[in-house]
Parts: sequence; C-alpha cells; structure tokens
Amino acid sequence: MRPPFYFKNNRLFCEDIDVTTFSETVPTPFYLYSKSEIEYNCQAVWQAAKQDSSVDFMPYYALKANYNPSILKLIKAQGFGADIVSGGELYFAEKTGFPADKTVFAGVGKTKEEIREAIQKGLHSINIESGEELKIVADIARKEQNTQRIAIRINPDIEAKTHAYISTGLHKNKFGISTEQAFELYIETQKYKNIIADGIHVHIGSQISLASPFKATGEYLKTFIQRLARKNIIIKFLDLGGGIGINYDDPLTNAQAPRTFIDTILPQYLASFSGLKLKLFVELGRSIIGSAGLLVSKVLIRKHTPLKQFMVVDGAINNLIRPSLYQAHHQIVPLEKGKYNSITADIVGPVCESGDFLAKNITIEDIPAGEKIAVGSAGAYGQALASNYNLRPTISEYLVNGTEVSTIFKGRTVADIANSYTW
Ligand code: LLP
Repeated sequence: MRPPFYFKNNRLFCEDIDVTTFSETVPTPFYLYSKSEIEYNCQAVWQAAKQDSSVDFMPYYALKANYNPSILKLIKAQGFGADIVSGGELYFAEKTGFPADKTVFAGVGKTKEEIREAIQKGLHSINIESGEELKIVADIARKEQNTQRIAIRINPDIEAKTHAYISTGLHKNKFGISTEQAFELYIETQKYKNIIADGIHVHIGSQISLASPFKATGEYLKTFIQRLARKNIIIKFLDLGGGIGINYDDPLTNAQAPRTFIDTILPQYLASFSGLKLKLFVELGRSIIGSAGLLVSKVLIRKHTPLKQFMVVDGAINNLIRPSLYQAHHQIVPLEKGKYNSITADIVGPVCESGDFLAKNITIEDIPAGEKIAVGSAGAYGQALASNYNLRPTISEYLVNGTEVSTIFKGRTVADIANSYTW
C-alpha cells in the first residue's frame, strides 16, 4: 500500500492531501492523521494472526497511545477491543462503542472506584499487579455480588532491548510480579468465589523492534502455564501486552521501509503458543496509531551561532515530549523539499527549557521563518502526552480520508484553560 505520507513533486502529501496547502488554512502547530494507515495497521494485526489457523485471537487497542474519539471509533470498527488503564479511558472506550466484554483493564494503581466501576460494567478482565490488589478486587466483587475474571501480570525479568523508561518487564520495574509470587497468588485465588483467575497478563516494554524478547517471553509463559496446570490451575487466555515497534528513522522518505514491525514480530510471538488451547490477546498502541500521525510546525526564527545552528519552531516539548523524555529520534522534513541548502541544526521549540527540542544535530534544509516542517511517526504518545506548559494551548488534530480532511479535536485554547480556574 502507498505510504500515508509521501513526497510528490517535492511536496509532502498525506493520502491525497497536499500538506502545505492544507497547513495554510489552519493555525500551526497541529497533528494530522491518516485514516487509511490506521485501518491498514489494524488489518495487518488480523492478518498476522491468520497465519496460524489454530490461533484464537483478539486484539485490543491501548487507548493510552492516542485516545481521540474519532480514532477510537475507527479502531473499534476494525474489530478491536479496548485496553484501558483508568476510569477516564473507560469513559472514552464506552462512549466510542467498545463493549464492556471486549475491554481489559490494566494499571499498577487502580482506585477502588475504578475497580468497582469495572466490575459493575462487566469488563472482560482486570489485570492484577499485586497481592494487595487481588484482595481489593476480590472484596469489591464479593460486595457487588458479581464475578470478575482476572489475569495476574507476570514480570518475566526479560530485557526488552528498548529505552529504560519504556522497558517494563524487568524485576527492577514497578510492573507485575515475579512468577514465584504469581504462583502463590493463583493458588490464593482459588479461595475467592467471586474471582475467575484463568488468565495471565504480560507486557515487557514498548517500541521493541526485535522478535527475540517476545519469543523469550513466550517460552517463559509456556513453562509457567505447565507449572500451574500441575496444580490444576488451568489458564485459558493470555494477554500478551503491546510493545511492537515502528519505524522512526525515515517514515516520510522511505516508501520501501516497513512502517511497523507487526508483520515481523506478531506471527512469531503468537506462534510460541501454537497448538495450545488458549485465547491470545494483544494490547497494541504505538503500532496501530504511531505511523499514522504527523506533527506539523512552522519555523519562527533561525538562530545561527558560531557554535550551533538552531531552528526555532512553534511546536515544542509540550506538544511532543518524546525526543526530550526518551532521546527518541523522529524524522523531521520540510513540507516542501529542494528549495534551500542543507545545514546541521537543532530543531527547538519556544518553551523556556534547554530540554525543549524536537531533534538535535540533524541535517535539514535551512528553511526560513514562515515555512513549515513535519515531524514523522508522531501518532502515538504525541498529543496523548501533551501539556499546557508555558500556558501554551493544546493543539488541534485533523484526520485525512482520501481528499477530505476533518477536524477531530478543535484544540484547547487559552480561554478554555482559563475557564477551569477560579479568578
Ligand atoms: N499494555 C500495557 C500494559 C502497557 O503498559 C502499554 C504501554 C501497552 C499495552 C501499549 O504498548 P505499545 O503497543 O504502545 O508499545 N510514552 C512512551 C510509551 C509508554 C508505553 C506505556 N505502556 C513512548 O512515547 O514511547
């Protein structure tokens, strides 16, 4: 399939929309998403699962990556369930039509109110992160006179080979519990009449580009399932987490490069459980929406010093924190190519922090004030992590569908922010 973003006559397009022409009609910065790319990624997930006809598979979308309701509705229409981590995400999932029995609830610190709501609504499962949490869930289920299915989150102590801040499957991370502790907990669950403990949850990290950590997790889980079976604890479903990476290197200029690692990783991960009578779930965020989004920003000023060249743009750390927080590389290109000579520059925002940058030491055309750049692979954990630091408004989001563009978030203006305060 044609990439969602590509250059035609040196101008960046999203589907059939010329991004420069569109950018002249709206304020910058803004996020722009491709509908067909979201659908394409969802279909790649179903396709990967089909490779082994014995697999009983269900994909869930991790709302944390991007919870724009228009995007949620598109993903829901592709047959995905919802993976939520808060009452807020439950509200959005429910309102965009995800059925309760296709919603799973994860998270290391859930409030009693959130747990009660999950039980009352009949969510498919609650992922348990500690012994204390198991007791609380069992207690609330009993009081609600309801039965709740759970999966205990295992921390397999497997190195995900990703950035330390987004690695979650090591014993030093706060997530899940060791198999020894989990083993005890599965035994403990047998005494709770209102709990069905027939699932295991695992999530080893995010932006993983290799199949090997997933295959190691698969082997680890298989051994654990057999161990539980010897105690007559029969596991029926595995919630395998998310974590499949995407191309951050050159998504806007390399039409040949795979845009996500769904095709290379997912079939191998699922194959670990081939022949076992298990339902397999995944909870994917980044690999569904990451490659479908672009951040468009305008150059405000150029600052050429004897030591460094800075390109100051109107998009900043409060719009996209990933470069600064995870040393993440995002490809940045001018919306119109081939007009100026290239320089080596830092692309920085106007926020009063030295950590406010979108890229460091990249080669980019020396485009003047008023012209625009695009930041690639910005669909996941971009707008979702935005803040109003320096009292900067939350920017708008637009969705492209062929030749049409629709506003899917109209931005949160300074007046909107001001309204929440007592003056
Ligand atoms: N399931 C669980 C339990 C998770 O903690 C996460 C992500 C996912 C699923 C979805 O993972 P994905 O498929 O998106 O890799 N803000 C960071 C990423 C944080 C990921 C948190 N957990 C970033 O921008 O790289």
